[in-house]
Formats: sequence, C-alpha cells, structure tokens
Amino acid sequence: MITPAAFGRWRPLAWSWPGKVAALVLLAGSLALIVQVGRYFTFDSRFAFFVERPEITADRVWRACFYLHVAGGILCLATSPLLLWNGVAGGRLALHRAVGRVHAVAALGWVGPTGLYMTAFAKGGSAGQVGFLLLGVWFIVTNLAGIAAIRRREVPAHVVWMVRSYALILSALTFRVLHWLCHRLGSDAATNYVVATWVSLVLAIVAGELVGARLASIRREPAMLQASIP
Ligand code: HEM
Repeated sequence: MITPAAFGRWRPLAWSWPGKVAALVLLAGSLALIVQVGRYFTFDSRFAFFVERPEITADRVWRACFYLHVAGGILCLATSPLLLWNGVAGGRLALHRAVGRVHAVAALGWVGPTGLYMTAFAKGGSAGQVGFLLLGVWFIVTNLAGIAAIRRREVPAHVVWMVRSYALILSALTFRVLHWLCHRLGSDAATNYVVATWVSLVLAIVAGELVGARLASIRREPAMLQASIP
C-alpha cells in the first residue's frame, strides 16, 4: 500500500536552497517555453519552422502529429513540476494519481509517438534524426518503466524513472537555449540544430541520472529519512 508518507521521505531535497533556485529557474523557463510554443495554436502556417520545409509540414498527417506533439509537450511541461513537487514534498496522493494519469496519456499517447513519427522528417540530416530517435525511445522507456515501477508499488524506482523522464522533457527547453546560443556565436543553422539536439540530449540524460541518484541516496539515509517522515 502506497501512503503519502512514502512520498514525503524526499522532503529534505525539496527544501534545500539549491533545490529551490533550480526549481524557480526551471519553472520560469518552462513557462516561457509554454508561451512560446503555445503560439503554434494560432494555426498560422507562416512560422519559419513550417515555411522552410513546405513539402513536409503541409502534409496532413505530419501536421496532426505536430499539433498533438506540441499539446502533449505543453501538458508534460505543466504537469511534471506539480507531480514532482507533490511527490517529493509529500502532497495529496489522490491529486498525484489524477495528474499522473494526464501526464501518462500526454507522454505515451501524444509526445512520444508523434515525436518518433516526426523524427523521420526532422531537420539536421541523419545526425539530427538519430538524436531525436534516441530521445524519443528513451522518453518512452523511462515513462513505461516509471509506470511499471509504481504498479509494483516500488516508489523509489518510480521516482527515479520519472525524474529521468522529466529531464528529457526539459531538453525541449535546453535545446532552444542552446540553439539560440549557437546562433549568437555565429554557427550556421544546420550545425546549430544538430549541436543543440545532441548537447540537450546528453545533458538531459546526465542530469536525469545525477538527480535520480541523489534522490535514491537520500532515500537510503536512515537519519534523514526519520527526520523527514511527517
Ligand atoms: C521528450 C520527447 C520529445 C521528442 C522525442 C521530440 C521530438 C521532436 C521532433 C522529432 C521534432 C521535429 C523536429 C524537426 O522536424 O526538425 C520536434 C519538434 C518540436 N517539438 Fe518536440 N520532442 C519531445 C519533447 C517536446 C516537448 C516536451 C515539447 C514542449 C512543448 C516539444 C515541442 C516541440 C516543438 C514546438 C517542435 C517544433 C519545432 C520548434 O518550434 O522548435 N517537444 N520534437
């Protein structure tokens, strides 16, 4: 039986200063990304991303996948911090379950499959496409593993897998920051895209492993656990 106390055992990390600052930066960045990509829902066809490859982006199947992808991405970006906060800081389990189901549908039903479909047509040639392929496959694996863990009632494994998945969602944010940075540094558009794809992917995998390991180690320290159990 999973109780809210099982989630509450990670409370020390949630209240640390580095944790608070990182959370604020990520929240602000996620909000900015949601506002930026939300503009696609004006359904205007004049966005540079569409105009530069009209033969692909005018296709109805691609377009349907694209809008589902962006809608799912926005849902994942919005629900992940709530789930993490609610889980780590020990909030209401019923809320966590309800929001978690929305997140699972958005991630596994929308973002992952549509991302994999669009990978076949992605910019950046085969180097860019292999990066998106790895991102999509690892994103689906982390979500499936996280859901399987919680079905087995293994809360620590669930947290670690979902942190890995959240790091991959945030790669959509680091991708855009890196893309802008490379552009400012004078790199050409094609190189920009591939560099931003791969660096954001590697950063997301490394960050997911580091934060996951940190949470797992806190979970194993009995003194901290006892101090933090409500
Ligand atoms: C984590 C799994 C994800 C995968 C595998 C993935 C994959 C892809 C792929 C393959 C493309 C097409 C790139 C191209 O045609 O060159 C794309 C574009 C896009 N994705 Fe994702 N994506 C993921 C997450 C997200 C998230 C979380 C968002 C947040 C809203 C997002 C928003 C977008 C947007 C807006 C585009 C259009 C390009 C742009 O405006 O920059 N994606 N994605």
